[in-house]
Amino acid sequence: MIPFLCPVCGLPLTLNQSVYQCEKRHSYDLSRFHYVNLIRSSKKIHGDNVEMVKARTRFLRSQAYQPLKAKLTELIQAENPSAVLDSGCGEGYYTELCETLENCECFGVDLSKEALKQAGRSCPSVRFAAASVFELPLPDHSLDLIWSCFAPLALRENARVLKDQGKLIVVGPGPRHLWDLKKVIYDTPYLNPQETLSSPDFELIDEQTLSYTIQLDTAQQIQDLFTMTPYYYKTSIQDKQKLEALSQLSTEVEFNLRTFQKKSA
Ligand SMILES: C[S@@+](CC[C@H](N)C(=O)[O-])C[C@H]1O[C@@H](n2cnc3c(N)ncnc32)[C@H](O)[C@@H]1O
Ligand SMILES: [Zn+2]
Repeated sequence: MIPFLCPVCGLPLTLNQSVYQCEKRHSYDLSRFHYVNLIRSSKKIHGDNVEMVKARTRFLRSQAYQPLKAKLTELIQAENPSAVLDSGCGEGYYTELCETLENCECFGVDLSKEALKQAGRSCPSVRFAAASVFELPLPDHSLDLIWSCFAPLALRENARVLKDQGKLIVVGPGPRHLWDLKKVIYDTPYLNPQETLSSPDFELIDEQTLSYTIQLDTAQQIQDLFTMTPYYYKTSIQDKQKLEALSQLSTEVEFNLRTFQKKSA
């Protein structure tokens, strides 16, 4: 069994009666929400707050992104992995696909304890830790596959914990993602720039695009989707008001699913 590592000394942690402990007796409680807090830094770092988590949970429950979840599940099942991580798992919407993987050790890591409270409820077979994706509490060369959906990417750290030839699936917005929503807010919307990910540790082996139209039927749904986007923080009050006036919106969504393979040492 792959252990979590102690954030203080790096030794493996063993779980005994809801307490993770290393040989040096550093200990961490497994919370009643089924995650352990292994955040290493003493700095005040945190992931998404309660409002962001609530908005995303409500929106994802509407199943608007179910086709993306199905596509990601298909890609991951095809790898037949025995150890996986959802990196920046949020409240576990995509982590839920772990329930379809047989004989596989599954992990979820996120900085947001609010998000993990939700994730722990919906994915009982997954081990969750509050930690940074840049300092994963997992051993070197332990995982077959990592996925990262709309979360910060830590390529170096991912390469450390993946086995040679291990896979990293990165899901992000395609050029036309939320095009019709952007048309409401901006006079001249722009296509999302497509970042090239180059890393000495990985090579790109597959790239797929998924696009379809979603229909939002309430003002709440529109606001929830907007809250999930980076535009929420960058948009002026006047432009936000244009969206608040709507109670229905049909918008194109477009996702990019890129698979990278870790190069052998
Ligand atoms: C846009 S959300 C995506 C969540 C989930 N993957 C999904 O698609 O539903 C980004 C997530 O990354 C988390 N996050 C941000 N910085 C992080 C870091 N350095 N380490 C771990 N998680 C981080 C946030 O707390 C948030 O849950
Ligand atoms: Zn320790």
